[in-house]
Amino acid sequence: MVVAIDGPAGVGKTTTAKLLADKLGFMYLDTGAMYRSMTYFFLQKNVDLNDIKDIQENIILFENIVEFKIQNPMIIFLSGKDISQEIRRVAVTNYVSQVSAIDDVRKSMVKIQRSVASKGNVVVEGRDIGTVVFPDAEFKFFLTAEYEVRALRRLKEFNKMNENINVNQIKEDLLARDNYDSNRKISPLKKAEDAFEIDTTNCTIDEQVSIIFKEIEKKNE
Ligand code: DC
Repeated sequence: MVVAIDGPAGVGKTTTAKLLADKLGFMYLDTGAMYRSMTYFFLQKNVDLNDIKDIQENIILFENIVEFKIQNPMIIFLSGKDISQEIRRVAVTNYVSQVSAIDDVRKSMVKIQRSVASKGNVVVEGRDIGTVVFPDAEFKFFLTAEYEVRALRRLKEFNKMNENINVNQIKEDLLARDNYDSNRKISPLKKAEDAFEIDTTNCTIDEQVSIIFKEIEKKNE
């Protein structure tokens, strides 16, 4: 069974999906982290995003050295090194929308995402999970929140990592990424028609999890 959770940055998808997976006893897959890890690798390798050959060669290199450890929280290794924290940094965040808009990058990631789901029940969070990756998912949720609230949530996360960034820079990043992610040609950020939308502006994380959990229980009755 797949529970798809989509929505823009800063709506609390990751925390919600992790807690929900625990509560349901499901695997947990953070697809944003997957795109971030490919981006991290591309930055290390100085990949030229205008050169399709360079991109394709580096996707293969990446596939050979990456390990997505499917546990909660998910851990990502590159050549045996844990990069789960590094991929959250501003340098990767600034670049990830461009990398995730590349068709070959998405094909590589989607292949891995479907293979994980074939192994059992999973909560999957991302942007295109209910629309493209798992259009037949049993449960689809789309989280939203007001832009100011999302920026403050992100600020808290960056502060925890000691990243030197102010709320205005975060707002700019959120706007730019929403715009980029929603308007790209391939698999844009979009609510699936049959997704249940939740405005999380005034919700605590526990409330978000509880709303989703109740919806799942209701349908399963
Ligand atoms: O959820 P996040 O902020 O970690 O995601 C980082 C970026 O990855 C996001 O700006 C767009 C991209 N992404 C995507 O294109 N498709 C997904 N399923 C998940 C994330």
